[in-house]
Amino acid sequence: MKVLVFGGAGYIGAHTVIKLLDSNHSVVVFDNFSTGELLNVDQRATIQKGDILSKDDLKRVFKSHNFDAVMHLSALKAPGESMINPTVYSRVNIIGTLNILELMIESRIKNFIFSSSSAVYGEPKNSFIDEDHTLDPISFYGFTKLEIERILTWYSKTTCLNFIALRYFNAAGYDLKNRIRVPEKSSHNLIPKIFDVLIGNEQVLEIFGSDYDTKDGTCIRDYIHVNDLANAHVQALNYLEKNNSPIFLNLATGIGHTVLEVVEKVEEITSTKINYKFVDRRIGDPSVVISKTKYKDFPLNWKPIHSSLETIINSVLKLYMHHL
Ligand SMILES: NC(=O)c1ccc[n+]([C@@H]2O[C@H](COP(=O)([O-])OP(=O)(O)OC[C@H]3O[C@@H](n4cnc5c(N)ncnc54)[C@H](O)[C@@H]3O)[C@@H](O)[C@H]2O)c1
Repeated sequence: MKVLVFGGAGYIGAHTVIKLLDSNHSVVVFDNFSTGELLNVDQRATIQKGDILSKDDLKRVFKSHNFDAVMHLSALKAPGESMINPTVYSRVNIIGTLNILELMIESRIKNFIFSSSSAVYGEPKNSFIDEDHTLDPISFYGFTKLEIERILTWYSKTTCLNFIALRYFNAAGYDLKNRIRVPEKSSHNLIPKIFDVLIGNEQVLEIFGSDYDTKDGTCIRDYIHVNDLANAHVQALNYLEKNNSPIFLNLATGIGHTVLEVVEKVEEITSTKINYKFVDRRIGDPSVVISKTKYKDFPLNWKPIHSSLETIINSVLKLYMHHL
C-alpha cells in the first residue's frame, strides 16, 4: 500500500515508518520537524516538509501520490502544557486533524489510522481500563484526542471514512535494531527524563507526587515498547483493508509500573544511582493508568512482545550509548 504518514519524523512515527517499509509498504512522510528529527526518517521513505495547519502544504502532498491510507501521528502531546496553552492544542490537534480529514475525503481516501491516547479516559474508575471505560479526560490534551475520536465516528457515518483509533498508553524504548539515530528532543516522558539525569544533562529528576494511593506513593503507568506500537500500525492497515467498521483499541501491556520502580530498574541496569526529588503533583495526571482490553480475540493480529521494562530500558541505554 502507499501510506501517507503525518508526523513520520516523530518518535513513534519514525519507528512506524521503518516497520511499514520493512513490510513492503511505500511511505511518504509529512512533517514540519517541530519535534521530529530528519535523521530518524528511514531513507527509503519520501519526505515532504509541511504543516498540517497549511491547506496549501496539505493539498500539495495529497496531489503528489494516490494514497491507500493515512496515518496521523502529528500532534502536540504534553498534558501539562495543554492546560496552560489550550488554544495552541486546539489549533494543532483539532484543526490540524480536520484539515487532514477534509483533504482525505476530497481525495476519496478511506483508510485512516489515528494516534489517540489513554488520556481520553481520564482518572480510572476501575483498576484496569478497557475500551468501554468512561471517556472523561482530565487534561485538555486528552480532550483534543476525544474530540477527534468523536468526529471520526460521525465522519465514518457520513463520509467514505474508515478508521482505527489507536489509544496508546505510555510509549517507551527505542528501535531494537538500532535504526533510530537520535533520541527524542526535550521529551516530557519519564524514561527520557531519567536518562537526562543519567548522562548529566539534568541535575535531578523531578518526581511529580509521592502521595498517590499506590504501593510506593508514585504514579503507575503501562509502558509499551515503540516497536510493539509500530507493529500494531501495520496490523491496523491489514485490518482496514478487510473490515469496514470503525474501532477504538488500547495499545498497552496490561502491566503497570510505579515511577520509583522504573527509576530502580534503570539504576539496576546501569549500576548508577539516579538523583531524584519529589515535587508537587502535576495537574492532569491520574494516579494509576493500566489497560485491559475488552476483546477476548483482539481485532488486530497483534500482541506486545518487546515491552518488558528490561527490554525497554536496555533499548534506551543502547541509543544513548551510541549517541554520546
Ligand atoms: N509518546 C507517547 O507516549 C504517546 C502516548 C499516547 C499518544 N501519543 C500520540 O502519538 C502521536 C505521536 O507521538 P510522538 O510521541 O511520536 O510525538 P512526537 O512529538 O515525537 O511526534 C509528533 C510529530 O508530529 C510533527 N508535528 C507536530 N506538529 C505538526 C504540524 N503542525 N504539522 C506537521 N507536523 C507536525 C512533529 O514534528 C513530530 O515529528 C501523537 O499524536 C501523540 O499525541 C503519544
